Amino acid sequence: MNGDQSMASSGHEWWRRAVVYQLYVRSFRDHDGDGIGDLHGVTDRIDYIAALGVDAIWLNPCYPSPNRDGGYDVADYVDIDATYGGLPAFEKLLTAAHERDIRVMMDLVPNHCSSSHPWFQEALASPPGSAARARFHFRDGRGPDGSEPPNNWRSTFSGSAWTRVTGLDGPEQWYLHSFDATQPDFNWANPDVAAMFDDVLTTWFDRGVDGFRIDVAYAMVKHPDLPDAPEPYDNPYMLNQPGVHDIFARWRAIADRYGRDIALTGEVWLSPSEAVDYIRPGRLHQVFYFDLLLQPWRAQNFRASIDGIVTNRIVTNAPNRGGSPALTLNNHDVHRSVSRYGLTAPEPMQTDDDTVRLIRPRGRVDVELGVRRARAAALLLLALPASVYLYQGEELGLPEVLDLPDDARRDPIWFRSGGREHGRDGSRIPLPWRAGGTSLGFSPPGSPAPWLPQPDWYRRFAVDAQQDDPASTLAIYRAALRARRRLFGDADFAWLDAGRDDVLAFRAGRAVNVTVMGDEPFVPPAAWGEIVLRSHGVSPMVVEADSSAWLTGPGSTGDD
Ligand code: GLC
Repeated sequence: MNGDQSMASSGHEWWRRAVVYQLYVRSFRDHDGDGIGDLHGVTDRIDYIAALGVDAIWLNPCYPSPNRDGGYDVADYVDIDATYGGLPAFEKLLTAAHERDIRVMMDLVPNHCSSSHPWFQEALASPPGSAARARFHFRDGRGPDGSEPPNNWRSTFSGSAWTRVTGLDGPEQWYLHSFDATQPDFNWANPDVAAMFDDVLTTWFDRGVDGFRIDVAYAMVKHPDLPDAPEPYDNPYMLNQPGVHDIFARWRAIADRYGRDIALTGEVWLSPSEAVDYIRPGRLHQVFYFDLLLQPWRAQNFRASIDGIVTNRIVTNAPNRGGSPALTLNNHDVHRSVSRYGLTAPEPMQTDDDTVRLIRPRGRVDVELGVRRARAAALLLLALPASVYLYQGEELGLPEVLDLPDDARRDPIWFRSGGREHGRDGSRIPLPWRAGGTSLGFSPPGSPAPWLPQPDWYRRFAVDAQQDDPASTLAIYRAALRARRRLFGDADFAWLDAGRDDVLAFRAGRAVNVTVMGDEPFVPPAAWGEIVLRSHGVSPMVVEADSSAWLTGPGSTGDD
């Protein structure tokens, strides 16, 4: 299907400039009082989400799962786990969201399933060479007794990417898992796998979902020979294989058949020039632009990264355009932006993965500075001609919980790395709704403790402590989401010269964004307009240090 046809069938392309709110369901709001967030909890708070002004929600996986990796170990792709309220709770949420013009995206996990999935159980019970094993990557081991893994590939979560199966007669073949051993990788060269996922997509589209965020979208296809990697920590054979695009063309055709503007957004941790292939016409609608998330708080870095979006043909209004970048600074896999930008004394980290140093740095954090910068970064992002994915709690300015007690940690990264890498639990702490009470309003009174402990200082960031304060982080997010589309339309993007290396300024649509990433305030020239929204400060003339402001010309305001 070419770009013109897919555009014609995809209506007004809501996703292109959408703000999508990511829900880590387990930690958003507990309705049934078991200490675990659930879908009724999301429905209870749907008006909070609507008041933020987002266009869509993305639900982290809530399918039946042994939950060894936060639900990214799916045991049944077409049902909802009872812990989250089952399918009835999902249907209720879908209706409540649609009534408020909020679209609902789910998380599709096609690279691997849970080791509890019936297909993997069947594979374990079947002999080497069987059709059941061919749906996964089973191989004999190396060495005289097959006791060494079939190749040198590493799991993203540390350790070998292979685990050996023990049969009735002792140890036998090995299977591949890019992540935890409980997450066997599917063999996408096997037609059963593609057919199964066709059914998964149509099942959810028939139920009315508006799209999918696609987990590990760049790594589903492996090099057919599974050769040793030249460098185990940077393995070209495990990712970005050409065949992966055939899968997306197939899914795009399925989505387009519905003629109702469905969105497919890929989690693609590749360079911008590689990621762009994923949104060519007829493939995915969006890819995450993680490049921006990897940048330190430095204007030159942000500028170069933004240039990658606006010049790399990723954002263009030309006919036959492909998809668009999805900007994001926070999600359930990275340390919250407050703590990344507020890190004043980094600690050395024990990891072989350079990306981990950037996305999950540890050390002393100046929270006030971090909140200030994270707010500025949010205003910068929301002014850019792209869509933006927000992660629950960032609208509260939540810092990362870096000092979670070790015995509370759940992330398989912590266990597989033998405690060398702390993992991702600190961004997944249950939200503080109220500054008082047990569980800070996360669970109903009298419930057991939340599944991850909330630190006492979390109460300072509670929703009820912010909702009536016009200077709160929550108020700034709400105001920005209200004003953004009107101010920063689809019109051309142009950098403005601020005359300082530490100040970013650009015009897009009717407005100008100025972000000061250095220590000195900046006075914008009068021709850029007046400040109508700001992340920090009060002076009508000045953009403060580590802050961002939106300006418009005479005669327009930032308020509705
Ligand atoms: C993605 C998810 C992450 C998960 C991994 C394996 O990167 O975002 O949370 O652990 O895939 O499914």
